[in-house]
This record gives sequence, C-alpha cells and structure tokens, in this order.
Amino acid sequence: MTLEELLASAREALDHITTAGTEENLEQARVKYLGRKGLITQALRSLGSLPVEVRPQFGQEANRLKKLLEQHLEAAQERLKKAALAAEAVAVLDVTLPGRQQDVGRLHPITQITREICDIFIRMGFQVVEGPEVETDYYNFEALNIPKDHPARDMQDTFYISDNIVLRTHTSPMQVRVMEQQQPPVRIIAPGKTFRRDSDLTHTPMFHQVEGLLVDKDISFADLKGVLTLFVHEMFGPAVGLRFRPSFFPFTEPSAEVDIQCVICRGSGCRVCSQTGWLEILGSGMVDPEVFRFVNYDPEVYVGFAFGLGIERIAMLKFGIDDLRLFFDNDLRFLKQF
Ligand code: FA5
Ligand code: MG
Repeated sequence: MTLEELLASAREALDHITTAGTEENLEQARVKYLGRKGLITQALRSLGSLPVEVRPQFGQEANRLKKLLEQHLEAAQERLKKAALAAEAVAVLDVTLPGRQQDVGRLHPITQITREICDIFIRMGFQVVEGPEVETDYYNFEALNIPKDHPARDMQDTFYISDNIVLRTHTSPMQVRVMEQQQPPVRIIAPGKTFRRDSDLTHTPMFHQVEGLLVDKDISFADLKGVLTLFVHEMFGPAVGLRFRPSFFPFTEPSAEVDIQCVICRGSGCRVCSQTGWLEILGSGMVDPEVFRFVNYDPEVYVGFAFGLGIERIAMLKFGIDDLRLFFDNDLRFLKQF
C-alpha cells in the first residue's frame, strides 16, 4: 500500500464514521477500517514489506491516522447514544397529559386560631412570650402552689421524663418564669403545647393553651371579667353567651372557669357539650398570694389575674367541629377546609 492509498482509505473511513446514522453502521465502519482485518490495521501490519526508506514516514502516518480515526469513532458513538436517548424520551413524553399541580401549603387550623387569639390580646396591650414544653416539677406544680401530694395533680396526670421533669400539663409555669425575670407591671400571654393523659371527644394527649397574666396595683376581678368578656366577644361576636362558673385552682383565689354557649347545638345540648349547652374554654382567677411569695413579689402591694385558654376548644367552636381529635389526624381532606 502506498502512502497515497493509505490517505485515501483514511479519508473514506473518516467519512463513514462521521456520517454513520445508526450504532450498527458505525460498528460496520469500525470493523472495516480499524478491526483486526481492517484496512488501517492491515496497512500497519504490511510495514515490513515496504522499502526501508519509506517505512518511518509511512509508519508514523499510519499511527497518526489510526489515533485520529479512533477519536472520531468515540465521538460518533457518544453522539449516537445521546440521539437514541432523546428519541426514547420523545416516545414516552405525552404532551397532552394534564400538568402536575403544585400543592400550596397552608397554616394548620390550630395555628390560625392561635394567631387570632394572640392578635386580640396584643391589641389589649399584652406581650407574647414562649417557654419550654419539657418542664421541671417545680415550675409546673410546686411554684404554682401544687405540692407533691396535692389532689389537684390527679387532674393533670402527664408524661414523666424523670421524677422531676415532666411534659408541661398547662402553660401556667410561664407565669412563674416571667415573674422571676421581671418586676410588675406584667402583662403577657404565653401560647404553646401542653400534655396530659387524656383522650376523648374534647380531650387529646397533646393540646394547646394560651396563658395570660396581668400583675399591677389596683387590679380587681372586674378587670379579669372585662378582659375575658371582651376576648370572647372579639372571637365569637357579641351575641354569644358566656358564663363565669366558680372553680378552684391552687394558684388562683378566687377562681372561675369560663364556658361559652355551645355553637354546635346553639345551647340546646349535644354530644360535644355533654348535653349541657355549654363548653368550658378556660380557667382563670386572681393570682394567689402564695404564688407571689415564690417569685418574691409583695402580695401586700401587687394584685393580678391569670387565665389559661384551651385553643382546640376555641377552634372547635369557631369552625363548628364536633370531634377535637380530627385536628391531629393529619388528614388533608379535613385540614384543607380551613
Ligand atoms: C388549667 O390548665 C389552668 N392552668 C388554667 C388557669 C390558668 C387557671 C391561669 C387559673 C389561672 P384546666 O385544666 O381547666 O386549667 O385547662 C384549661 C383549658 O384547657 C380547659 O378549659 C380546656 O379548654 C383545655 N383543656 C384541658 N385539657 C385538655 C385536653 N386534654 N385537650 C384539649 N383541651 C384541654
Ligand atoms: Mg378546667
């Protein structure tokens, strides 16, 4: 083979390789020129039979062309593989299918109601504070005048982390935490999660409360009634009935629980209100002087009131839901309605 013939073969090979339309064509070209019996391979093999003076140049040239063709072969393989993939994608892509809808998130109904409650108290001048859900026995019970053997502990049975650390049963420990940190006047609300060993239509083991605390000079039960009545009217409208029912809490004296007219049955009695027509939404009272002693406030100078609202109860009444547990089933069909 002459140098001219070698160059002609190489040109022909390059042409086949770069124009191969399928992987099969390309493979044929590879075998024809670069295979064991291929033209270029044969040319290199025949080197020994050439006159000595042309061998170096012919050898160099044949090697250079072989390398060049191999590079083009590789590039062509890559190109055909990509084309095959693209063709496959086109085959499975159905542009007539409906688009996929982007799900937009929303606030959980309990979060919405918590914000609504906080907004009402913020307008009355209360400040929002937050504190730990895992609480010491001291803040959850002791400092609220509930000693170890007090029967009031029975109503707030909870989850114990250890003998002295509990999941808080109410947001009332925030009263103590705030008063330890500042002098009167105090005017705070503290929303958050609370926990008890409870489960029925109107009780869940995890629920939410908003604590309220106001301490100043010359505060009376009338202020407590005024603030809570205004709150209920803001939340449910001025037409809804509410009542203050005498109650007991070791950390308030006197104490009252507030019920509002059941909006599910409008007061005629149903399973939500246990046929009474009323549903309890909060506990409240004048801060017991014993609690002031725990935080070194002078009970002769300061007076205060406190309250603890059940957020789920308010959400139930607001949205007309008859089973509180629905809030925590995580069923989007339910949650999307609010
Ligand atoms: C208390 O928790 C007192 N800390 C409230 C308080 C604060 C009184 C400040 C005086 C001064 P009680 O156990 O009644 O009180 O709970 C308050 C409210 O939380 C109830 O009215 C109810 O609305 C709600 N609640 C109680 N347990 C549950 C539960 N398991 N699931 C849902 N809501 C609950
Ligand atoms: Mg109660």
